[in-house]
Amino acid sequence: MDEQLEKMVKQVQDGAKYRFIHPDLIENIARNELKKGRSWKDTVKAIRNKLHQVGSAYQPQGIDYERLYSEMKSLPQDIHNPEVRRFLIQTMGNHASTRERLQILDQFFLETLSSLSPIDSILDVACGLNPLALAWMPVTSSIQLIVCDIYVDQIEFLNAFFEHFNIHGKAFCCDLTQQVPQEKAQLGLVLKTIPCLEQIDKNIGAKILQDLPCQNLLVSFPAVSLSGKKKGMRQFYSEHFQTLLHNTGWNVSTFSFPNEQAFLIKK
Ligand SMILES: C[S@@+](CC[C@H](N)C(=O)[O-])C[C@H]1O[C@@H](n2cnc3c(N)ncnc32)[C@H](O)[C@@H]1O
Repeated sequence: MDEQLEKMVKQVQDGAKYRFIHPDLIENIARNELKKGRSWKDTVKAIRNKLHQVGSAYQPQGIDYERLYSEMKSLPQDIHNPEVRRFLIQTMGNHASTRERLQILDQFFLETLSSLSPIDSILDVACGLNPLALAWMPVTSSIQLIVCDIYVDQIEFLNAFFEHFNIHGKAFCCDLTQQVPQEKAQLGLVLKTIPCLEQIDKNIGAKILQDLPCQNLLVSFPAVSLSGKKKGMRQFYSEHFQTLLHNTGWNVSTFSFPNEQAFLIKK
């Protein structure tokens, strides 16, 4: 990394909200923003704005993982235990994306995945806290879960979650705009993620659907904005999704939920 880029990445990471973001993503955004020739201060601001849009906006208060670790430690190891399910629901409430799904959690995975049930392996990309929804997914007891996102502290917490509940799981940091994971799984989850990634790379949507090594993909888009407004988003993203499918010939089923529009692709 050249000196200027390295200095810029460090300065961006000095902000508390950005400290735990995967340095590869910060570097990727910084490289593009530095090319625009703005002042140093405006470049720092532009990089942080972008990081806010794709990540911090979903967890504006930050997430107190220390508290979550200590609560998790005292819980039974069965994710279907009612006390554990209450903890999982509360914890998913810390991330806007899973919080929006809580009201449809009982239906969302059962309805969208019924034709694949029981599922034995899942690759969840840009997962947020969605791996905690495992207790609501139609999976085998030996389910393998591979998940990635851009927050180092979140990834550590997800690995601790897998360990505590004896789940065959692996979480790792990954900037999807630079690297599409190649771990094979029966099902890939690309939930409400494509619009985020397209803020960094306009062509990433079709590439990710093409390159993920999964025969089946559950892809979704938000049907309301983070502020709760419905601005024709369902139709806009449904049309956009059709353009991503262009000439693939894949079999697609559509599922409409109040906040989310989902598509199950069978390649
Ligand atoms: C709208 S949230 C969706 C989270 C989760 N899939 C869900 O539906 O609950 C978008 C997620 O993408 C992650 N993200 C943003 N940019 C990313 C990138 N370049 N690579 C990987 N993940 C990214 C964010 O941290 C956030 O967790």
